[in-house]
Amino acid sequence: MDSFNKKCRKYQRFGLPTIAKTFGFYPYFNVINSEQEPIVRMDDKEIIMLGSNNYLGMTANSIVKKSAIDAIEKYGSGTTGSRLLNGTFQIHKELEIRLAKFLGKEDCVIFSTGMQANIGTLSSLIGEKDQWVLSDELNHASIIDGIVLSRMTKGNKAIYGHNNMDELRGIIKKIPKGKAMIVTEGVFSMEGDICPLDEIVEIADENDAFIFLDDAHSVGVLGNGRGTASHFNLTEKVDIIMGTFSKSFASCGGYIASSKAICNWLRHNSRAFIFSASIPPANCATVLAVLDILENDDSYSKRVLDLAERMRKGLKDANFDIGNSLTPIIPIVIGKEMLTYKFFKKLFYYKPKGIFTNPIRSPAVSKGRELLRTSYMATMNNDIIDESLDIITQVGKKLKIV
Ligand SMILES: Cc1ncc(COP(=O)(O)O)c(C=O)c1O
Repeated sequence: MDSFNKKCRKYQRFGLPTIAKTFGFYPYFNVINSEQEPIVRMDDKEIIMLGSNNYLGMTANSIVKKSAIDAIEKYGSGTTGSRLLNGTFQIHKELEIRLAKFLGKEDCVIFSTGMQANIGTLSSLIGEKDQWVLSDELNHASIIDGIVLSRMTKGNKAIYGHNNMDELRGIIKKIPKGKAMIVTEGVFSMEGDICPLDEIVEIADENDAFIFLDDAHSVGVLGNGRGTASHFNLTEKVDIIMGTFSKSFASCGGYIASSKAICNWLRHNSRAFIFSASIPPANCATVLAVLDILENDDSYSKRVLDLAERMRKGLKDANFDIGNSLTPIIPIVIGKEMLTYKFFKKLFYYKPKGIFTNPIRSPAVSKGRELLRTSYMATMNNDIIDESLDIITQVGKKLKIV
């Protein structure tokens, strides 16, 4: 047998997923049979959804859905091509202009996913012999892969400890001024903590460094919906704000908001942008409709932050380790892989109503920091938060986690 088939068959028989299935702990690919609202239908029953990135609850908003349907009626279902060739519709241009304005940047480029935005931007912007990239150790896989694809040599890239500004300062001091790019998430995706953007800007200013901010989990939530840079009132100091449509914007796609020069570079040099079909018009219309709401109404972002605060207080009072979360992402740190899956299962099958959470293991978090990632929606109410807290606490006590 060839080595490719051999590798996959071996994995099919002895890989971790198969072992987890054998012991009844496999937690992935659960099917949802409803809209992603606070309560979803899964496994033929109602489940509280604490595992969605639908922070503002917009996937089920009737105005948002109607906008997507209207766009399909007007433009059809797909674009069938790259933006460079036949895939630029008027609605893509409109969305880029609106997003740039909303985020306080000169221009914006839409990619087909957030993953592609990171990969396509980092791989095309960095990689020269006299450039360095400094990346937070908890940055998303798409950032890591973008740096790998840039073919930057080992000596020109460094990973600094999570939010460790002393380490970042120490590394950047050794690099010539104007040659470093600092890459960080605004809100970290697994633990919901916020990067110290004020200190990062200070360090960047001292070293004439470039700042790349992945705001996938922050836009819609922090800074009146405008994200981490706006939250810190530092939009002008951030060179690139990257984001996704797959979370608060209730759709699918990604973007880079930056200067006209950077966006022009990406439109003509980013392979992930050039060699991939553009997002369907319905996705653009969805995001435009969410923007209409966000521009006039900050109650959604306030609501989700308030609900998360209520949950954080309850979990802390119950003695759970919830890291440094300040956002609608709240980790429940377990620190053991099998126990994390067990906790997930017990919550999922809790009767009469279970809870869906996301069990997270290495490499998404470091070994020994396995956790249940919980996240919240603006369309939840206090009763769901309190009910969830009660179930989590009961199960946590049974498993001796608290
Ligand atoms: C921090 C971060 N960046 C980028 C992405 C990629 O976004 P997308 O889902 O649009 O590919 C994600 C998605 O999980 C993310 O959490």
